[in-house]
Amino acid sequence: MPANFTNSKPLKLGEPLIKLESVDSTNNYATNLLRTENAQEGTVILAGYQTLGKGQAGNTWESEKNRNLLFSIILKPDFLKAERQFYLSMCISNGLAALIEKTAGRSMIKWPNDILLNGKKVAGILIENTIMKDMIHTTVAGIGLNVNQKSFEGLQEAVSLSVATGREYELSDLLNDALELISNELEPLYMGNPGVIKTTYLNRLYRLNEWARYTDDAGMFEGRITDVGSSGELIIARHNGEIRQYGFKEIRFL
Ligand code: BTN
Repeated sequence: MPANFTNSKPLKLGEPLIKLESVDSTNNYATNLLRTENAQEGTVILAGYQTLGKGQAGNTWESEKNRNLLFSIILKPDFLKAERQFYLSMCISNGLAALIEKTAGRSMIKWPNDILLNGKKVAGILIENTIMKDMIHTTVAGIGLNVNQKSFEGLQEAVSLSVATGREYELSDLLNDALELISNELEPLYMGNPGVIKTTYLNRLYRLNEWARYTDDAGMFEGRITDVGSSGELIIARHNGEIRQYGFKEIRFL
């Protein structure tokens, strides 16, 4: 059994908790800590503001100062084969979706790991792994959760907890809840029981088993998401019975 989970003691996230007023990116800071100080598993870096917040696929992540949660979690799941790294993504997504449901309402996960509230994106996840000999060596899981920000100029598909519910949230309480819920969802992975992770993920997967429109490199088509593969591929069936697998960037939701 991996050292950091025992039957009675969950992995404690947020010990230590490093709070920064401003940083380029909490993911970059975490990566540097791993390189220079071999930071311990469970370390969390929290920032009030990022000057160079990173999103998926080379995008930026913009966030008003001190209105949202911007943090990165350091993990060392060195028992996990690199080809199964999507399990980490599912665990973090499941934890965040659980947090949204606890605080604001029904949440869905848009493949691969956008967290939706009322059909709009409330949180994004950027996971950066290092790999040694086909196994995960270190993980930096960066999370941006829109909390008290009221407007998202030019981002029609974004929402915050506060816009959705009309309430203001205490960021430190929310962080504690997030870390506890993410730790709960990581537990089956660390305990060698990954089946439940995918079931939880699929239960909240946006458009699962629904006919909807997508585009791939051949153009627009109608399809139905039936599953995700263990490496994170999106599996889509077409009306003619054909089934295809897509990696991130190979398909667009319409
Ligand atoms: C996405 O594009 O959906 C992923 C966004 C991830 C943003 C978070 S904010 C905290 C952490 N630090 C970063 O630079 N990015 C992630």
